[in-house]
Amino acid sequence: MAFLNIFVGNNQKTMRPLILAAAALAIAILPAQARKAPKTQPFTHETVAIPAVTPGIISVETDGTRLILQVDARGTVRTVHYGAPVGDPGQFLCFRSSGDHAFGAPTAYPTAGGDFNGQEALHVEYPDGSQNTELYYVSHEKSEKDGVETTTIHLRDYVTSLEADLVFEAFRQEDVILIHSVIRNKGREPVRLRNFASASLNLAGDSFLLTHFHGSWAGEMQMEQTTLTHGVKLIENRRGAQVTLESNPSFMLSVNSPFSETDGEVVAGALAWSGNFRISFELDQSGKLNIVSGISPFASAYPLGAGESFTTPEMIYTWSAEGAGAASRNLHRWARREGVYGGGKPTPTLLNSWEGAYFNFTTETLLGMIDDAASMGLEMFVLDDGWFAMDYPRNDDRAGLGDWEVNTNKIPEGIDYVASYAHSKGLRFGIWIEPEMVNPESNLARNHPDWIVQSPGREIYEQRHQWILDLSNPAVQDFVFGVFDRTVALSPRIDYIKWDCNRRIMSFGSPYLGKDQDRFYVEYVQGFYNVCRRIREKYPDIIVQCCSSGGSRIDYGALRYFNEVWPSDNTDAISRARIQWSQSLIYPACIMASHVSAVPNHQSGNVTPLKFRFDIASGGRLGMELQPKTLSAEEKALADRCISSYKTYRDLVFTGDLYRIASPYSGDFYALMYVSKDKRRAVLFTYCLRYQLRVHASHIFRLQGLEPGLNYRVSEQNVDKSCWWGDGKSFSGAFLAGGGFNPSFSQSLTSAVFLLEAE
Ligand code: DGJ
Repeated sequence: MAFLNIFVGNNQKTMRPLILAAAALAIAILPAQARKAPKTQPFTHETVAIPAVTPGIISVETDGTRLILQVDARGTVRTVHYGAPVGDPGQFLCFRSSGDHAFGAPTAYPTAGGDFNGQEALHVEYPDGSQNTELYYVSHEKSEKDGVETTTIHLRDYVTSLEADLVFEAFRQEDVILIHSVIRNKGREPVRLRNFASASLNLAGDSFLLTHFHGSWAGEMQMEQTTLTHGVKLIENRRGAQVTLESNPSFMLSVNSPFSETDGEVVAGALAWSGNFRISFELDQSGKLNIVSGISPFASAYPLGAGESFTTPEMIYTWSAEGAGAASRNLHRWARREGVYGGGKPTPTLLNSWEGAYFNFTTETLLGMIDDAASMGLEMFVLDDGWFAMDYPRNDDRAGLGDWEVNTNKIPEGIDYVASYAHSKGLRFGIWIEPEMVNPESNLARNHPDWIVQSPGREIYEQRHQWILDLSNPAVQDFVFGVFDRTVALSPRIDYIKWDCNRRIMSFGSPYLGKDQDRFYVEYVQGFYNVCRRIREKYPDIIVQCCSSGGSRIDYGALRYFNEVWPSDNTDAISRARIQWSQSLIYPACIMASHVSAVPNHQSGNVTPLKFRFDIASGGRLGMELQPKTLSAEEKALADRCISSYKTYRDLVFTGDLYRIASPYSGDFYALMYVSKDKRRAVLFTYCLRYQLRVHASHIFRLQGLEPGLNYRVSEQNVDKSCWWGDGKSFSGAFLAGGGFNPSFSQSLTSAVFLLEAE
């Protein structure tokens, strides 16, 4: 039997007379009205018995990884290993995990309290004001379904009756482990969760190099690396909405020595949450790294009533000893299996109206774009912003958001007329909405001022001339669902919705939640997910793009409901090289919309060849976003060629295994390839971002992922002028990996795409 002393205060008997004397003196000198009875009961000396447990090992297993937890006799659960399979996990039974009181090592779900002083996963405030929680092992169970093994470990605080379940879902073939927790208030009074992370992972290693992603508008997902030193590094965002603009809730970590694409130990993680998040990396005195990841507790001391529970979002982990490439492929496989709506099923190529028309169009403009899209072989037309609102017409971004009726001054015939025209030309049809937002210049803002996120008596700041609706309010959730529902009802021929979200939360607060503002940030996101769930129940087949001023909502929480994302408003092919590379570290290519736009580029002013733009865009879901009338006949012919060859290999982009060959972050070249599961087909993209030296003319790219013994016939795609002496010839997989591939790049911004097919 182990004992836990729950006394908080001074328990030295010798001190007690002194304390009593001091208290008597204090009472004597206080004015009469200040001498009130204390509000709470004084803390008592009581010791609660904690049942001893039999020490044991819990092994969470995928085909190529192990996450091993150790339970000691006191019932403390600690992570002792995440990485390679290690034979019999029982060998970890007597492993010393630095778990003694003097050291204060983190448990598998470290709490504020007990012997721990580091970054906690759980911090609970109890009705008596106390804030200590100590979780001990109660039991665990395992179940398996469809190659996914679920391990649930039940933990309990024996003083407060608070319980926590740690849930590990191990995707065997994908080598991915999802971790989340369920926190349960089994007491008789409400408690407050001051921190309620999803997962805590303790790693051993000599050094840790962190790769994470910062960003800004038109510059999302920029890779950055830092060696972790002792102390805490936080990746956190508190924007409420658009949380992935400045940083993405994901990372890759080199353990021991820096990883390359093909070598080195890597842990990769991503949090499935579309709101405020926090991932802390704490390197402690023992040189171990503890990673605590979850919802940011900022302004969210979440109330949990008696008997209630809170389920945290999933933290997605993978591990590989074969570098960043293998770690990404694990995540991509899992994402296509269950992390992304639609599972990587190819979506149509398209023309989007935004950069070609912005707000200035009529039916005639749209029909003209549809004709051109059809003539170039595109498969869908998407009508972007500007089609709605009558009283406050959406002719620019200053008015109309919230009033989702068709602007019949622009499109008198209605949406069904345009959608039907697209269908008659063999195209599908998509349309833009931004249902969470409202311009002050709108009927919605006038009719429902209480639906707007705001704080009493304070200015409601505008961003892009708009306010944000309070999704914690069920009435707002109904409205937002209704916007989607009514938009789809505009025509039976709506195949695709682009869902935009163009501002963050400022002056945070919910009129609906009243005094319960601690719920706001969490319930805003839960409200968003409620709406998404309803949409998917009613519209399982509509393709939905997640856009947020570009890539400000790219996370595995949203992706459960969305087929694809708009990675950035920056459509410049040079800028996209870096954005797309970084995005591919964590997210699969099937979600990556990538559009060919006009030059000079509207965001960067860069002028790039049309072929280069096509070659960059073809590495994701290919689209175009310009006024096709501005293209010459020659350019349209090239577009036609690129689009038709893309259709022959896009299955590889959507479902193939990605191999990154050359990084735009570290040199003048960029290259990547997608290889089919059976390794019989592959597509290779090569780009010269900057030509500086003659040696650049024959840079060698060594290919990966091919079968050494197979012969591959190589055919160049998107041909402008042939770029490689080997075009049309056959080479063994061994030659292409070892000898390499050297297309002739004679100037900056040349590029080449090759299809490789086994003979
Ligand atoms: C921001 C998006 O990222 C753009 O693609 C476009 O849809 C505009 N909003 C429309 O307002």
